[in-house]
Amino acid sequence: DKGNYSHFMAKEIHEQPEVVGRTIAHYVDLANGVVALPDTVNIDFAAIDRLVVVGCGTAFYAGAIAKYWFEQLAGLPVEIDVASEFRYREPPLSGRGLALFISQSGETADTLASLRYTQQGGWPSLAVVNVQTSTIARESTMMAPTLAGPEIGVASTKAFTCQLAVLLALAIHAGRVRGVLSAEREQELVGALVGVPALMNRVLAHETDVEVVARDLTHTTDVLYLGRGLSYPLALEGALKLKELSYIHAEGYAAGELKHGPIALIDETIPVIVIAPRDGVFEKTVSNIQEVAARGGNIILIGDRSAASEVGIAGETAIEMPPVHPVVVPLIYAIPVQLLAYHTARVMGKDVDQPRNLAKSVTVE
Ligand code: F6R
Repeated sequence: DKGNYSHFMAKEIHEQPEVVGRTIAHYVDLANGVVALPDTVNIDFAAIDRLVVVGCGTAFYAGAIAKYWFEQLAGLPVEIDVASEFRYREPPLSGRGLALFISQSGETADTLASLRYTQQGGWPSLAVVNVQTSTIARESTMMAPTLAGPEIGVASTKAFTCQLAVLLALAIHAGRVRGVLSAEREQELVGALVGVPALMNRVLAHETDVEVVARDLTHTTDVLYLGRGLSYPLALEGALKLKELSYIHAEGYAAGELKHGPIALIDETIPVIVIAPRDGVFEKTVSNIQEVAARGGNIILIGDRSAASEVGIAGETAIEMPPVHPVVVPLIYAIPVQLLAYHTARVMGKDVDQPRNLAKSVTVE
């Protein structure tokens, strides 16, 4: 049932404050402002020295974001791979490791094969899954559920942000048990996580601003999506969403990679979407924006206007975002990224809920 929405995808985007809030409540002791993991997640993060993260598509990008969190908040080295590469590369499973699998459906063939590979190698596994009765949920040693509810639209939206909420809670927990985070810092981070649903609602209230930008994108054939730090995997996700729904060619790049090749593409015809929150790498992203502007590039900035005006680029802000704690940027900035793909495809008359050639659950490799 789509309710009052014209597509499942729109409904699922708008459900995010609710389902992400529900997911957070499953991992956080709200009264004490600390992470409290459910019984299904029974791992001592202080006893491991390596985390290997595996998934496909959007789930892989959630893992790529989690790499930054586990490394920065918990000092835990993370390797991340797409499942189709991991399973055939057969990487050595040495050391005291944990394998982390991310999947909405829990049935993705390559992810399942990767899980079985790590099980055979004797590593414990933790699955972040939305379908709790799925094969991956049953076969993994431990399960961390996302409480997104059924996701019908082929493009993953609410499952992605719920995955991020679970992964951030796990990273904060790991940071505490590994002695990296102080009690004050944990409270600050948990506070930021708990504040996510309200911020998502605030951003959803400005949907019409995103629609205006989307209408411009319908006339283009190529898009570049840039970000740094946590916003780099989100840029990759933004490019994936845009191409799979609108069939516009979109590429995501780390903003710092621009001058190593893709800058050759820049002219006034190619929109360059830059995810530019005020975070630890904001100044660096700003210099990349200036490089694009100097070559006549058509910049579409998704960012915080007050931060942008301090550095003289407020005029480029197409999608204005509220101030956000840097650690939760991917959860909040996922909303305009999803809406941009949705509205672009919708205005172009594409089948948003069932894009051509795609299946919701990829059970064959
Ligand atoms: C993109 C999308 C896909 C899935 C991928 C993994 O919008 O939905 O990239 O994320 O096929 O699927 P799951 O999470 O079911 O393993």
